[in-house]
Amino acid sequence: MESDFHLKTDLRVGVLASGRGSNLEAILRAGKAGQLGRAEVCVVLSNNPAARALDTAERNGIPAFAAAPKDYPTQTAYETELLRILRERRIDLLVLAGYMKLIGPVLLDAFSQKILNIHPSLLPAFPGLNAQRQALEYGVRFAGCTVHFVDAGIDSGPIVGQRIVPVLSGDTEDTLSARILAQEHELFPATIKLLTERPWRLTGRRFETIDEDSDPESPRGTP
Ligand code: GRF
Repeated sequence: MESDFHLKTDLRVGVLASGRGSNLEAILRAGKAGQLGRAEVCVVLSNNPAARALDTAERNGIPAFAAAPKDYPTQTAYETELLRILRERRIDLLVLAGYMKLIGPVLLDAFSQKILNIHPSLLPAFPGLNAQRQALEYGVRFAGCTVHFVDAGIDSGPIVGQRIVPVLSGDTEDTLSARILAQEHELFPATIKLLTERPWRLTGRRFETIDEDSDPESPRGTP
């Protein structure tokens, strides 16, 4: 599988969040500071009407919608509603910032290689819930976070970026989570920015940006 995704226009981002929304806040902060490249958060959606992320969006003047899956007969119907909102807002990139539901075929098909998730472990280690606890219990000396493209599996898509933190003696799940979260707040905006600024490709699972001046396969690099 190989693909190029050259972003030559502004990138309209939709954020899906289920809870606290600290990653959303970090992305919005980066946007205000001019550190999100040509990306702009244009809508926030949540499966949880009580998500703090919705308040954060509203406080920042960003349209925010909640759709509770239980109000829809099937996951397909639920995702079709999300897709309607995302299309209406001409969203190019979906960002999962603490979105606690699996993405189904409706959104996967509509946003192929255009959905990013952040996970609080160095994938492929410790996918799924309670990644920080899994890391502590396993006894690893280094932990971290991963931004990856979303596929049909659980935290299994191609990796775009990672940050590493040490596991310190005496760490609890809370202290390790906080150390990782600080890195998440830098990594996620930086990765979105990167995707708006550099052409990239996936070769198999392998993500790489393309240096347009020197890459022989790039049209601009070919004499
Ligand atoms: C983060 O740890 C993220 O890695 C995981 O869910 C948590 C969301 O936190 N996917 P927040 O809602 O962004 O504060």
